[in-house]
Amino acid sequence: GPEAARLVASRVADVPDFPKPGILFKDLSPLFGDGAVFRAVIDEIVGFHGADSFDVVAGMEARGFLLAAAIGYATGKGVVPVRKAGKLPREVLSASYDLEYGQATLEVHADAFAPGARVLVVDDVLATGGTAEATLGLVERAGGVVSGFSVLLELGFLAGRERLAPRPVHALLAV
Ligand code: PRP
Ligand code: MG
Repeated sequence: GPEAARLVASRVADVPDFPKPGILFKDLSPLFGDGAVFRAVIDEIVGFHGADSFDVVAGMEARGFLLAAAIGYATGKGVVPVRKAGKLPREVLSASYDLEYGQATLEVHADAFAPGARVLVVDDVLATGGTAEATLGLVERAGGVVSGFSVLLELGFLAGRERLAPRPVHALLAV
């Protein structure tokens, strides 16, 4: 709700020209570093979806890991790491995508999800949506069903939400 949006807005640091000129980087380190705020945003995400709505939570390396681990612990659900290329030791599924800056590949273990597992996908920021779109594809190819998607901060002008349509995106704060 509006209180969560206010909390996110108060704990985002805008960093001009990082990691390259012209990019205004949204750094949520102040949010993760504040224990009360971190707990409040985790509770907000869990409360929005409801702990009964998902079987497992997936987070994208690296900052999505922080959210996924906390949500998994808070709800007693397992966590699946969606990792950058070359990190997972067993059979993987891979998806390459364009970032707001550069290119990247994400991977998930091929057996990460039980068939039909309901997967809550979480990340810190939704920008162009490339990371989220790649992850949704990986979850589905691995046999899971995406039950929800939450981010702390959505950059609306980059229209990432449209790449996930008609799937809804839960953003604590949209700018
Ligand atoms: C950032 C952010 C999101 C992604 C959003 O991650 O944490 O995961 O970009 O951008 P997109 O919607 O345009 O794909 P980044 O790739 O910088 O890596 P990190 O989380 O490891 O820092
Ligand atoms: Mg990231």
